[in-house]
Amino acid sequence: MNRITIALAFAALTGISGAPISAAQAQNYPARAVTVIVPFAAGGPADITGRIAADILSKQTGGQFVVENVGGAGGATGATRAARAAPDGYTLLLGHLGTQAASLALNPNLAYNPRTDFEAIGMVGEQPELLVVRQSLPPKTLKEFVAYAKANESKLNMAHAGVGSVSYTGCLLFNNAIGIKPTLVPFTGTAPVMNALLADQVDYVCDPILGPLPHVRAGKMKALAITSAQRHPALPDVPTSAEAGLPQFNITIFFGLFAPKGTPKPTVDRLAAALMTGLDDEAAQKRLTVLGASIPDKSRRGPAPLAALVNTEIERLTPILKAATGK
Ligand code: MLT
Repeated sequence: MNRITIALAFAALTGISGAPISAAQAQNYPARAVTVIVPFAAGGPADITGRIAADILSKQTGGQFVVENVGGAGGATGATRAARAAPDGYTLLLGHLGTQAASLALNPNLAYNPRTDFEAIGMVGEQPELLVVRQSLPPKTLKEFVAYAKANESKLNMAHAGVGSVSYTGCLLFNNAIGIKPTLVPFTGTAPVMNALLADQVDYVCDPILGPLPHVRAGKMKALAITSAQRHPALPDVPTSAEAGLPQFNITIFFGLFAPKGTPKPTVDRLAAALMTGLDDEAAQKRLTVLGASIPDKSRRGPAPLAALVNTEIERLTPILKAATGK
C-alpha cells in the first residue's frame, strides 16, 4: 500500500474528516451531494444567486450541489450553521455583504466571526439595491418619497429580511440619511417581502435589484432610486441615489461562496477553479446579467480578493452602521 492508500483507508476506518486531505481525495471530490446553505427564503436574490452557483458547480465538477434554505435572524441562522459544519467540503454557504460584513456591526451576539470562521471560495456576482415602494403609495420620485416618509413616519412600514440582512442594511442607510425611524417589519427573506408589497401590506424595501426587477418592469411596484454610481441598463429611467440627492445611500452587494474554516485547501482550490471557469461561460454570465447582477472581472473573483473584500467591507461599514444605529 502506498501512502495515499493508507491515508484513505485510515480516514475510512476512523471517519476522521479533519485528517489532511490527499490529492486522491481531492480528485474524487465531490463523492456525494454537497449542501449549499442559502441563509434566506427561497425565491429571493440570495436564493437565485445560490442556485445559479450550485448549477455551475454541479456542471463543472460532475457532482451534485443542492441548495438548502435556512432562513432566520437576518441570515445569521444559516451562516452559523455553515460556520459550524464539518469542514469537509460537503457544506458551503452562499454569503453576501450582510452575512459576511454588515452583521458584525449590527448583531452584538453574532455566533460566528465572518473574518475567521470561513474559507472564501469566490465571488458569484454583485448587485446594486433598488429602493422600491408599493404601487399604491402616492410618491413617484425619491424626492417625493422623502417628503412623504417624513410627514408619515409614524405609519410607514419598512420591510426587510432581518437585522444584518442587506435589505435591512440598505434601508438603514436611507432612513438614517433622511432622519426617519419607520416601523420595521421582518421577513425571512425578500421573496416574501415582494408578496407583501404586491398585497399592499408594507410600504417599501431596499433589495438587491434581482428581487424587484420583474415587478418593477411589470408596473407592479415603483423603483425610486438605485444605489450604484451609474444607472442600470435594465432600468435606465431609475435615477441613482446620488442623482436623486442622497449620495450616502450608496451600497453594492457582493454575493460569494464560502466554506467552513479548515476545509482542505485542495477542496477549496477545486471549488474556486470550478466557479471561476463556470462564471466565464457565456450562458452562465447571461443567466446572471439578465437578472440584473454583474460578474466582476476575474481578478476580483477568486478566494483571496473575496477574503480581502470581506475585510474591507467590515472596516468600511462598521463605523457607518454603528453611527446609524447609535451603538
Ligand atoms: C434575500 O435574498 O432574501 C435578500 O437579498 C436577503 C437580504 O436582504 O439580505
